[in-house]
Amino acid sequence: MDAVVNLQSTPVGTALAPAVIIGGISLFLIKKFVVDHKVKSPSNLPCLPEVPGLPLIGNLLQLKEKKPHKTFTKWAETYGPVYSIKTGSSTMVVLNSNDVVKEAMVTRFPAISTRKLSKALKILTADKTMVATSDYDEFHKTVKRHLLTHILGPNAQKRHRNNRDTLIENTSNQLHTLLKNHPLESINFRDLFEFGLFGFAMKQTLGEDVESIYVDELGTKMSRHDIFNCLVHDPMVGAIDVDWRDFFPYLKWIPNKSFENKIERMDIRRMAVMKSLVRRARELSASREGVQCYLDYLESEGKTLSESQILMLLWEVIIETSDTTVVATEWAIYELAKDSKRQERLYEEINRVCGSEKITEEKLPQLPYLYAIFQETLRMHSPVPIIPLRYVHEDTQLGGYFVPSGSEIAINIYGCNMDKDVWENPEQWNPERFMDEKSDSMDLHKSMAFGGGKRVCAGALEAMTISRMAIGRLIQEFEWRVTDGQIEDVDTVGLTSRKLHPMMAIIKPRS
Ligand code: HEM
Repeated sequence: MDAVVNLQSTPVGTALAPAVIIGGISLFLIKKFVVDHKVKSPSNLPCLPEVPGLPLIGNLLQLKEKKPHKTFTKWAETYGPVYSIKTGSSTMVVLNSNDVVKEAMVTRFPAISTRKLSKALKILTADKTMVATSDYDEFHKTVKRHLLTHILGPNAQKRHRNNRDTLIENTSNQLHTLLKNHPLESINFRDLFEFGLFGFAMKQTLGEDVESIYVDELGTKMSRHDIFNCLVHDPMVGAIDVDWRDFFPYLKWIPNKSFENKIERMDIRRMAVMKSLVRRARELSASREGVQCYLDYLESEGKTLSESQILMLLWEVIIETSDTTVVATEWAIYELAKDSKRQERLYEEINRVCGSEKITEEKLPQLPYLYAIFQETLRMHSPVPIIPLRYVHEDTQLGGYFVPSGSEIAINIYGCNMDKDVWENPEQWNPERFMDEKSDSMDLHKSMAFGGGKRVCAGALEAMTISRMAIGRLIQEFEWRVTDGQIEDVDTVGLTSRKLHPMMAIIKPRS
């Protein structure tokens, strides 16, 4: 207490004193908490290897670079494919090999089927009101069924064929127009395709691709660009925003208003835009027959869903459609634009199968090299490098180690895909690895980019079709070359990892 007394005699000390007292009490509580929670294996199984960190904060400082998938992969070389770290007071078990990931997703799934969300995600997912972030319960099963039946399952995908064809046609037309108007300028494919996918998502969910809207609750008219920021960009950035209280839940009584206000503002704006879009979509629906979009479907089938649940489920499709597919497609075209030989090999394959006709979805099964390019891109540049954290709700085991309830599980897909025991020269982009005789269609699951088990990605079929069609069509019509001096680094935005700077490419129409 001496320090407190001395500090109190200065003006700065007057301000600091309460903080020091709180700090002193907190330290005592933390120490007690850590001692009380020191885990001992009640079974004969060994405890997990631990990555050494600092007292109280654990390994947090080692993770501040915001590319945890890379740090986790490096640690796996020393501590093995499964180990534990400390993020403040929480224990996180990190899985870095296919075998142990499959064990978590399938065999031990009943003990690891829930999620623990950060403060930001709790607000942005309206406390798990989404397929992707809910626990594995009746709500999850019902809403995943809705999503598959109306949008993402094989039959639903057949019904949305026109929208996909329009998306690919528009993307190609826009590139031709850009080339005609600015023949010497490099192309930012990401911006163009991201906007295309956003429009596609709005059509599937709300029945139309909205150009602008007046948002009553905010008293302002929003352009399509503003709507995109409110519904996609801002929540993506917010999703990984860190409230330090996430790591020290027993200090949650200390206010962190600026953080809460920022995320709550994002939530309010997003919901205001969604309400206006839905109001307009309902007016449109009233003038036409039958189920045209996901909103119509949810209103006719999901009678037990509340209005706010409907808004969240529609928003979920918009954000998921607008993000991961563009990440994968941009990486694939970037790799091809750097590698003229492989680009030529793909062009020849398409030429052989399609001749002078435009590539169509019917032709995709006859294009194994295109498929290999897509798979290899997902392996090397997994758009979701770490699966949203799972939570262990009863004691279990993984990789032969005891895993206590209360742990979080980080599934490091990137780490699995860089495993030297499974992949030869994993750091090289080499689609041919999926073309040899040993390779079969199951290899897509070997890269595990879409997760697995009961929580496997619901949008895998749509993403595979759209991405392969976009890559195929754009290579069929243009020759791609990256501009000089591109930095190949990764940026983790939200839960996905994209190229740090958008690919800038010079394109030339093929004759
Ligand atoms: C290349 C593109 C994509 C990749 C790499 C990808 C990857 C993933 C991954 C890793 C998961 C987590 C699985 C788990 O928790 O075990 C997931 C879940 C999910 N994804 Fe995707 N995804 C992609 C595209 C899409 C698209 C286009 C949609 C469509 C709207 C979508 C909808 C979902 C949903 C709803 C879930 C939650 C499934 C559940 O929890 O049961 N994904 N995705």
